[in-house]
Amino acid sequence: MNANAPRPIERHTLSFTLNGDSKQLNIPPWLTLLDVLRDELNLTGTKKGCDHGQCGACTVLRDGKRVNACLTLAVMCDGAEITTVEGLATGDELHPMQRAFIKHDAFQCGYCTPGQLCSAVGLAREGRGTDRDQIKELMSGNLCRCGAYSNIIAAVEEGLMASRDEQVEGGTQP
Ligand code: FES
Ligand code: FES
Repeated sequence: MNANAPRPIERHTLSFTLNGDSKQLNIPPWLTLLDVLRDELNLTGTKKGCDHGQCGACTVLRDGKRVNACLTLAVMCDGAEITTVEGLATGDELHPMQRAFIKHDAFQCGYCTPGQLCSAVGLAREGRGTDRDQIKELMSGNLCRCGAYSNIIAAVEEGLMASRDEQVEGGTQP
């Protein structure tokens, strides 16, 4: 056996739920969740900004919690439930947070918007963000290069309120 021969790439089988659908992939261990979503599964709603955990454009929900998909190895998601921006709406019915972003015109170029939305939905599940200062602090990992912050904060505030109302009424959205 040639000791200098390249070692075969070890691949891993990954099973997870993505926006309610079961997925199984066989992938090399170094792929990030972000690259798997965009390049292997063609779900390009989740954006790649910095690719270093600094902008929040890649935020998705893993088991309901906000994560930066660029810092998450896909193999760490075996058995997890992943929700991306494509999975927030229920059929044709937008998530309350999406409706609030539209109402408040909370975007310009829209590049940061999927991450802002997933982060805000995660925040709703955390049950935090009860005033504007808290929302600013808890959304500070999601940068907007267009500077649409005042509209984003107003939208998140309304979306959080709507989500709380839905939870009280027994709503089931993420
Ligand atoms: S692309 Fe992941 S934090 Fe910027
Ligand atoms: S709307 Fe352009 S980066 Fe936020």
